[in-house]
Amino acid sequence: MNELDTLSTPDRVRIQIILGSTREGRFGDRVANWFYALAVEREDLIAELIDLRDWPLPFFNEPKSPITGHYAPEARTWAAKIAEGDGYVFITPEYNFGYPAVLKNALDHIYHEWNNKPAAFVSYGGGAGGSRAVQQLRQVVVELQMAPIRAGIVIPLARRLIDESGAITDESYDGRAHALLDQLLWWARVLKAARAEHPK
Ligand SMILES: Cc1cc2nc3c(=O)[nH]c(=O)nc-3n(C[C@H](O)[C@H](O)[C@H](O)COP(=O)(O)O)c2cc1C
Repeated sequence: MNELDTLSTPDRVRIQIILGSTREGRFGDRVANWFYALAVEREDLIAELIDLRDWPLPFFNEPKSPITGHYAPEARTWAAKIAEGDGYVFITPEYNFGYPAVLKNALDHIYHEWNNKPAAFVSYGGGAGGSRAVQQLRQVVVELQMAPIRAGIVIPLARRLIDESGAITDESYDGRAHALLDQLLWWARVLKAARAEHPK
């Protein structure tokens, strides 16, 4: 038995797929539904799709940082939901070279529930496929004590890739999505065991 076997727990890790676009007429549903359909078929994880439309948090305006443990009353159920996750896949578009404000707001509202868990990114947009948004997100999640993983999916000109029925026209993306999940799972398992062994 190697060291990782002793660290791993028999239960499946829970991966939360967080859709970071909420605007009317968004394209993000197609990306999220494609990725979730693929993840939910896997037997080595529990996949959950979290649509920020279902979590209409107020604009962050609290007197204290969530790092202190002070959360807005409206953020407490959000915190409980995120606490269930062992790892996260953020699905993000690119708005003016950045990621949506609604996603930043959801990240900022809580702190401890994100800590010591891995984060992966699936981005989409124009020619750069949302890659500039992801570069920003990588910096932000480090401050939330998450571990951003190397594997990521960048979808340039996404409307050409996922048609209106939700079908993906380049099947190589399925393989990339599984490779991302494989890497995320490694981190999720290791960090889950480490959190159990070394509670904060
Ligand atoms: C406010 C705004 C700014 C945008 N800025 C960029 C950008 O900087 N780079 C890019 O590739 N696409 C940009 N786009 C195009 C979006 O990436 C594209 O519309 C995408 O579908 C948005 O995701 P959504 O439909 O899920 O909200 C922008 C779109 C909006 C609405």
